[in-house]
Amino acid sequence: MRVTKFAVPFMALAASLAFNVGAANAEMTDAGKKAMRAAGEIMFEQRCRSCHADDPARKAYGPSLIGVLGRTAGTLEGFAYSDAMRNSGIVWNENTLRAWMADNDGFMPGTRMRHVGIDDRAEQDFLLAYLKTLSGN
Ligand code: HEC
Repeated sequence: MRVTKFAVPFMALAASLAFNVGAANAEMTDAGKKAMRAAGEIMFEQRCRSCHADDPARKAYGPSLIGVLGRTAGTLEGFAYSDAMRNSGIVWNENTLRAWMADNDGFMPGTRMRHVGIDDRAEQDFLLAYLKTLSGN
């Protein structure tokens, strides 16, 4: 997919509209879920993929995020994590990933990952929807 600066706000709007429609029916529509994942993929492309390849066979600056949901932090074989990450004992789930996206170095002082500050709940929802697809759900 070709990514433009304009794509994110547009996709985000489309997805949040779909989300609100879905929420009104208590269950998000399939179209809503698809739009959330698509918006999340664009965000991942722009904010994360430069360091996190989503192909574990590719060498990257950050650890692969395939299967990250449910994984204990700092446990991917062969990646040189910071001590802070390796010793954190954190398990990556929706709550810990939200805290991480919002303020990773505040959440985990000493991490080697450069600060990202994604504190918008909807943007976090999009990224989570995409990260879930990397974890097989
Ligand atoms: C500038 C490079 C860079 C960017 C951009 C970046 N990361 Fe990271 N990320 C890293 C590094 C390096 C680590 C390992 C940190 C450590 O060991 O302290 C890491 C670790 C992580 C981890 C922990 C993984 C594990 O195996 O425990 C998660 C989750 C994560 N990043 C998510 C993200 C998300 C989501 C984004 C985009 C919003 C992002 N990162 C953007 C470099 C980056």
